[in-house]
Amino acid sequence: KASQAAEQRGWHLYLVGGAVRDLLLSEAATSTLMITDIDLVVDGFHKSADVGAGVELAKALQEIYPQARLDIHGAFQTAALLWHKDPELDSLWVDIATARTEFYPYPAANPEVEASSIRQDLYRRDFTINALALRLTSPRAGELMDFFGGLLDLQAKQIRVLHANSFIEDPTRIFRGVRFAVRFGFQIEAQTARYINYAIHSGVYDRTSQENSRTPALQTRLKAELKHILEAPYWLSALQLLEQLGALKCIHHDLQLDGRLLRKLRLLERCLHKFAIQETLIPWQISLEVLIAHLDGKYREKVAKNLQLPDDSITRLKKLSQTTSEVIELLPNCQFPSQIVNLLRTYDLETLILIALEGSCLIRKQIWKYLTTWANIQPLLNGNDLKQLGYKPGPQYRKMLDDLLAATLDAVIQNREEAEGFLAQ
Ligand code: CTP
Repeated sequence: KASQAAEQRGWHLYLVGGAVRDLLLSEAATSTLMITDIDLVVDGFHKSADVGAGVELAKALQEIYPQARLDIHGAFQTAALLWHKDPELDSLWVDIATARTEFYPYPAANPEVEASSIRQDLYRRDFTINALALRLTSPRAGELMDFFGGLLDLQAKQIRVLHANSFIEDPTRIFRGVRFAVRFGFQIEAQTARYINYAIHSGVYDRTSQENSRTPALQTRLKAELKHILEAPYWLSALQLLEQLGALKCIHHDLQLDGRLLRKLRLLERCLHKFAIQETLIPWQISLEVLIAHLDGKYREKVAKNLQLPDDSITRLKKLSQTTSEVIELLPNCQFPSQIVNLLRTYDLETLILIALEGSCLIRKQIWKYLTTWANIQPLLNGNDLKQLGYKPGPQYRKMLDDLLAATLDAVIQNREEAEGFLAQ
């Protein structure tokens, strides 16, 4: 339907980006393909008035499919159609853009857009494997447009950039390149690695990590890329490749994936798998917090703010040096589980994980024991039981329940009868 609507208007329509790459990769691997995100580009005109063609086509499609939601992004002249499917199934996003040339008003800025042709549209993209287009309109519907050797690079399993300035214009592409390399088991092609190196040495990360960055959109994109990487099953390998390329400096110039940080990340990975505490945790965010926590205390708050982490996360990282010292000093003095619970329940889960990764083996064991066992133990009696036993409701209930909990935790009492006896004393 989309190609018919484009043909009626005398336009060409192309499938571009990740969908073409994944289609070709799945063909090579004869694996099944699940595409949930489709990028289309409209082309075939030269007047600047046609810059709105993508939006016009999206509107025409929405008339045909009224169940799809239409979003228009004015500045970029793109429109998105979203089909919400059955909650069990993924939804389908279709982005429709007008073929465009982007120019970056200054390095690392958001691009500005003007109408252009498909070749130029593809040339502005990140990697050759993402710069392939499949023509959907006739004549020559089904033709693969490969101006930059993307197909060869797919076959050679290479991530190759399209032009020397790519990473200077958009440093987040360094993270994308690494993500694709690790995800597909590809190599970053040698010249591309040199461009990455050059971009990093030219200080491109200063623009991404500086305080009060004048390009907040860049920080948003960097955070999105980090989220993408840290959510993926291959996150640890991706971080290792980022370290090899010196790209962790984009987060902060002091950040290094040294042996100590690697050990903490491996422990975190085990902790996320081993203990059923993931439900309330956002795993990618705690991984990012572990990276930031590895920096000197004086930088943490600034980096967390730059990356637009939520307020509770910023506060946690800001106070981490202090909370870590508190726990490391006080925990060894606790002899009974009830004392450990009293100390640790004043901290949130994420803080405790960060401290556990930082602390000695003993500290870590006690925190894990607290998180997995002691924190879930309830007093053997509750408020209703106290009422039924004839105790007058009032503020003393809190103290009674706390005493009961402590006695339960320390195995002074094991059942309700013993609990009643304990109260009667
Ligand atoms: N793109 C780019 N530079 C970026 C982000 C995106 O050139 N910083 C281009 C690439 O051509 C990419 C397309 O925009 O293929 C769509 O971007 P996106 O949906 O983020 O990535 P996909 O390639 O579709 O990858 P994924 O499968 O991970 O979604």
